[in-house]
Amino acid sequence: MPQKVNPYEVEGKIDYDKLIAEFGVKKITPEVLKEIQNLTGELHPYLRRGIFFAYRDLKKVLDEYKKGNKFFLYTGRAPSGPIHLGHISVWRFMKWLQDRFDVEVWFQFPDEEKFLFKQNSKWEEIQKWLYENMLDVIALGFDPKKTHFLIDTKHAGIMYPEAVKVAKKITFSTIKAAFGFNDSNNIGSIFYTAMQTVPVFLPNVLRNEKRPCLIPLGIDQDVHFRISRDVVEKLGYEKPAIIHSKFMPPLTGISGKMSSSNPDSAILMTDSPHEVKRKINKYAFSGGRDTVEEHRKYGGNVEVDIACQWLKYFEFDDKKLEKVYKDYGEGKLLSGEVKKILIDKINEFLAEHQKKRKAAPKLIDKFIYKV
Ligand code: TYM
Repeated sequence: MPQKVNPYEVEGKIDYDKLIAEFGVKKITPEVLKEIQNLTGELHPYLRRGIFFAYRDLKKVLDEYKKGNKFFLYTGRAPSGPIHLGHISVWRFMKWLQDRFDVEVWFQFPDEEKFLFKQNSKWEEIQKWLYENMLDVIALGFDPKKTHFLIDTKHAGIMYPEAVKVAKKITFSTIKAAFGFNDSNNIGSIFYTAMQTVPVFLPNVLRNEKRPCLIPLGIDQDVHFRISRDVVEKLGYEKPAIIHSKFMPPLTGISGKMSSSNPDSAILMTDSPHEVKRKINKYAFSGGRDTVEEHRKYGGNVEVDIACQWLKYFEFDDKKLEKVYKDYGEGKLLSGEVKKILIDKINEFLAEHQKKRKAAPKLIDKFIYKV
């Protein structure tokens, strides 16, 4: 299957170097990592492991930071279903950025986006997911004093006046070319990218400041900001910087991305320990050999083995991860054994997450931006 990467479809085995060239982004090099490490004192495993792999204008933001002008972080989630482990990989990394750089997070919940884009979506259901999704973001431990939720239809009063200024600078032909739309797309979806652009500069409008914006995201979202970057400049604001993540693959194999529309491919934040075990044992694509004898003799393929690949997201100790990879590659560890290591890691993580999620409803008010 040829690769396809856009906000509405991610398909095929993704060649990230090809994407870097196609999208015109820069690869994160050892020099960039060193620069981050000099400022933070350590590197998050997702940086060390190339999960966050590309950027736009990152160096500019870091230079400003060194001069004492702190950036703010901006990302988002369009509710329409449950949060899975792929989504939170971006946000766990963002939390680390918030802590290390001591900066604000602006988190957008465009509650109109999937309503407009998904044929069978129901407004009430999206609103239910909005609430549920906010709980998962809160449970990741963002600092409520420095984290602001923007909900498009609730914050319309402050967002819409800015969105129209953005929309006026974007033609229908730009949208058609960028998103592949045609005359049968509804008019709300044509306007939508203007709403996703607003948080790039809204904090500066609200506070009369000039802080740079850094956006951590999965690379499927880059296209919105290819448009935004030009437009915000025309409106007199700085282009936002971006740091791009690869996709956490689905359980079923390394092509495409984990998605909650295919429940067999994803582990959800609310899955029970039993469900985690069942899904991984049943669906996690194995890089093991057909028989134990062959596996012991020739070893497994860590590159396609989903349990091995997912451990990059959960085993933060490099030495332990290396040992699993080495032992599996040499046939000392069997597929079932690696799956067991992964199941235990994920269940440990989810136990903590679900505990914090239970306490999250009381905190929601603190996170929603007060106009
Ligand atoms: P949404 O809600 O589809 O996804 C939220 C974020 O999760 C990332 N993502 C993944 N990352 C790694 N592995 C995966 N398998 C995976 N699946 C999803 C997405 O890239 C995204 O960063 N339009 C946006 C919402 C939005 C937004 C933003 C995103 C509004 N403002 C600013 C990023 C930055 C959306 O539909 O994302």
